[in-house]
Amino acid sequence: MLSILLHRRSFLTGLLGATGAGLLQACTHNAAAADTVIAPTRAIPLDEAPPPVRACGAATVDQIEGPFYKPRAPHRLAIANDREPGERLVITGTVKSTRCAPLAKAELDIWHADARGDYDNDGYHLRGILATDEQGRFELRSIVPGRYLNGKRYRPSHLHVKLRAHGCEELTTQLYFANDPYLDGDPFMHSSLVMPHRTAGGVRRAAFDFVLQAA
Ligand SMILES: [Fe+2]
Repeated sequence: MLSILLHRRSFLTGLLGATGAGLLQACTHNAAAADTVIAPTRAIPLDEAPPPVRACGAATVDQIEGPFYKPRAPHRLAIANDREPGERLVITGTVKSTRCAPLAKAELDIWHADARGDYDNDGYHLRGILATDEQGRFELRSIVPGRYLNGKRYRPSHLHVKLRAHGCEELTTQLYFANDPYLDGDPFMHSSLVMPHRTAGGVRRAAFDFVLQAA
């Protein structure tokens, strides 16, 4: 528990620092950035989170926006507060360029359904923008989204995200969870966007590294 608290404190400190005059790395084909050796950035012990699904290289697969996106969501440190009904969810990871440069101050514009499968289309409940720290890291805290009907079948549990970073093409995609019985047959799901996950202490933990291509 102590290690979790220490990690969270150091992460939040880094995140708050990134909102200041931190280094802004662009999504460029800068040779120096490309040659930089990226040290492991995740301070989470291996028994707390699975390894990320993707390494940098190819850009993350894009997905349809869907009908429920709303621009101008508020910037938040957590998408759901502690009183939100549902299974707790923590997704950690990084945002990098295709040349493996970590992207500081990248924005993750998140929206997803509540535990019953409903979107808030009037306000900004379960919507928010997160920012990466100076190492391109993020920590997404929310609840596991509920499934909802798409025609006659349920879509698997998923989160929508738009990613924006200086010099990069905006990416719109979705994240899914391994072992969801509704993955097979979903018309949108892509296997590269399915996250392994584990639950410990009542919290579902997953990891994902996003890769953006230069604009
Ligand atoms: Fe959706």
